[in-house]
Amino acid sequence: MVRLAKPPRARCRVLEPACADAPFLAAFTQQYGSGHELVGVEIDPERLQQARTNVPWATFVEADFLLWEPATRFDVILGNPPYGIIGDESHYPIHILKERKRLYRQQSRAWYGKFNIYGAFIERAVDLLAPNGRMVLVVPASWLVLDDFRLLRAYLAQRGRLQVYYLGKVFPRRNVSVVVLVVERDACGLRLYDGRDRLAVFREQYHGEMIRFETEEWMQFEREGIPLEELFHIRFAARSPEVRQHPAVVSEARPGYVPVLTGRNLHQGWIDYETCYSGLWMPRERAAELRPFYGFPHLVVAHTKGTRIVCAVDERCYPWREE
Ligand SMILES: C[S@@+](CC[C@H](N)C(=O)[O-])C[C@H]1O[C@@H](n2cnc3c(N)ncnc32)[C@H](O)[C@@H]1O
Repeated sequence: MVRLAKPPRARCRVLEPACADAPFLAAFTQQYGSGHELVGVEIDPERLQQARTNVPWATFVEADFLLWEPATRFDVILGNPPYGIIGDESHYPIHILKERKRLYRQQSRAWYGKFNIYGAFIERAVDLLAPNGRMVLVVPASWLVLDDFRLLRAYLAQRGRLQVYYLGKVFPRRNVSVVVLVVERDACGLRLYDGRDRLAVFREQYHGEMIRFETEEWMQFEREGIPLEELFHIRFAARSPEVRQHPAVVSEARPGYVPVLTGRNLHQGWIDYETCYSGLWMPRERAAELRPFYGFPHLVVAHTKGTRIVCAVDERCYPWREE
C-alpha cells in the first residue's frame, strides 16, 4: 500500500485517517524519508498517545474524521478505516448516537441504504484530496457490487481514476474480503487487478457501474443464467418506520400477539418464531396489512453482511421487518 502511495512531489502533505497507532505514517516515513508533512486523525485519545510515541515527527489531531474540517487538502491519504454498518441496534457492528449518524448522513452525498462507515471514510478522504492527490485505503470488497454503494461508485467515478487491487481475506480472524482502493484525483477510468497484481479489467471511462471480474466463465454465467425475477415474484419486507407506525404493533408481548421477525430470526432452512429481536409484536392475522404477501406462505430470503444468503419458507405467515 505504501508503494501505491508514492508521493507526487518532493514535499507532500500526507494524512492517515482513523490512524490508531499510526502504522501507515510510520511505514510512509520509512519508505520515502522525513521530508513530508504527516498528519494523523484519531478519535480515541489513548490510541493517539501511542501514535505520538510511534511517530513523534507527525502532527496528530483528536477528532472524528468524518466531521473534521481541516484548513488544507492532502496530496496523499492512506490507511485502514473502520468497517461496519452503523446502527443503534445490537446486531450492527458500529454503535453510535443517532445524532452523530444524522450528522454523517447530512454531510455525505454518497450515503445510500445501510451503507457502511468505511464508505463514508472513502467519500470524506476523496473530498480532502488536493488537486492530483492520491488516496490509498484498504477496505471491504462489498462496495464493488452492492447496491448500497451505487452512489459512492458514481461519486468516485466523477472524482478520479480508480485502481482496485483485490486481496481477498487477508486479515486473520476477520471474515472479510478486502481490496486496496487507489483514487487518483483529476484523472478518469478504472483498473481492476486480481490477487496477483494482474490487470483484469481496464476501462478508459468509468461511470460507477458494478465492478466485477469479467472472466469468460463469469460472463458465460451472466449470458446463460436465468434472472431470479423470471422465476420468482420478488417482494421486499416492511421497513422499520412502517412497522413502528402500524396501529396494531406494540412494544411488549401480549396474549395473541406474535413477534415481528427480522433477518436474525431467519436461518438456513428454518425460522425461529419465538425470539423477538425487533422488540415489537402484533396480531399475526393483521400481518398482511403491512405487506399482502405476509398473508400466505412464502420464501423469505436475506443476506448476512452482504455475502451469505439464507432462506426458509414462512409457513406460519408472521409479520417481518426489514433489517
Ligand atoms: C485503524 S481503524 C480500523 C481498523 C479495522 N479496519 C477495523 O474495522 O477494525 C481503527 C481506529 O479507528 C478509530 N476510529 C474509529 N472511528 C473513527 C472516526 N470516526 N474518526 C477517527 N477515528 C476513528 C478507532 O478509535 C481505532 O483506533
